[in-house]
Amino acid sequence: MIIIDNTEGIRRHSSGKPRVLVPTMGALHPGHDRLIRKGRSLAGKEGQLVVSVFVNPTQFGDGEDFESYPRTPGEDQSLCSTAGTDILFQPTVEQLYSEGEEAGIKADTRLTGTLCGPDRPGHFDGVCTVVEKLFSLIEPDIALFGKKDYQQLAVIRQMTRDLKLPVRVIGAETIREEDGLAMSSRNRYLSAQQRAQAPALFKALKSISENNTPESAARIKTARNMITSEAPLGKISYLQIVDRQTMQELSTVDRPAIAATAVHFGNARLIDNIEIAPANQPNAGG
Ligand code: PAJ
Repeated sequence: MIIIDNTEGIRRHSSGKPRVLVPTMGALHPGHDRLIRKGRSLAGKEGQLVVSVFVNPTQFGDGEDFESYPRTPGEDQSLCSTAGTDILFQPTVEQLYSEGEEAGIKADTRLTGTLCGPDRPGHFDGVCTVVEKLFSLIEPDIALFGKKDYQQLAVIRQMTRDLKLPVRVIGAETIREEDGLAMSSRNRYLSAQQRAQAPALFKALKSISENNTPESAARIKTARNMITSEAPLGKISYLQIVDRQTMQELSTVDRPAIAATAVHFGNARLIDNIEIAPANQPNAGG
């Protein structure tokens, strides 16, 4: 595995071989590991697997955890190497952003009016900006993103279409702890008590997917009660059912959708979602 920390280096290593990119912010956990290994198998023996580790300042809002976001470069390097990475790209902020840079990519606002969008103004613009930079530097044929961040995946797919970027964006399933909690770099912020309550998120989302009532409001009410009673340390930021592609809120579950939630446990903001099939149709899993 080669480690590159500058933009000239990553351009120089462009080999003409098919490239697969897995962008991350580091503090890698087994969910990232699965994503990277999937990248390895998509790249095959001939292709090149690039993993980027970069805590992107522009996607963090004021008062969010940019400074304290966990950074574990040594562990990240060994995980990437073991998972079959060819190139680990770990640029500094100065390498990716110019001094005082203002221009950036705007996320499609049609996709950011729900879920995390209102909670985190500017967040998806920052995500689009950095992902476009990574795409243009690394020139991947395929880029892999987790469905754990479903809205992010939708926003990136849209940006890729709109900017006509020659990248195939692939979504990968959410990897969970045994008790259902979606793996996340932010889970390490949880106290033992909060950690014990956190599986309530996925349990509530599962109840939404298994409930056959067409009305979203009824499903959400049951799920909300579940979180409130099983995770009293959690504060629900949103719990919504939205169209899987457009991210528009659905009052009736009459098309492929996701149920998604964000819950604050102290300083930790956890998100999760599940794919749900239209009412009275077999479930799509999640
Ligand atoms: P980060 O949170 O580090 O996640 C990197 C990738 O791993 C994302 O595509 C995310 O969806 C995926 N991922 C995280 N936890 C996962 C899990 N439990 N199961 C499956 N996939 C999981 O998302 C970002 O970084 C950033 O916003 C980034 C896209 C790198 C842009 O800065």
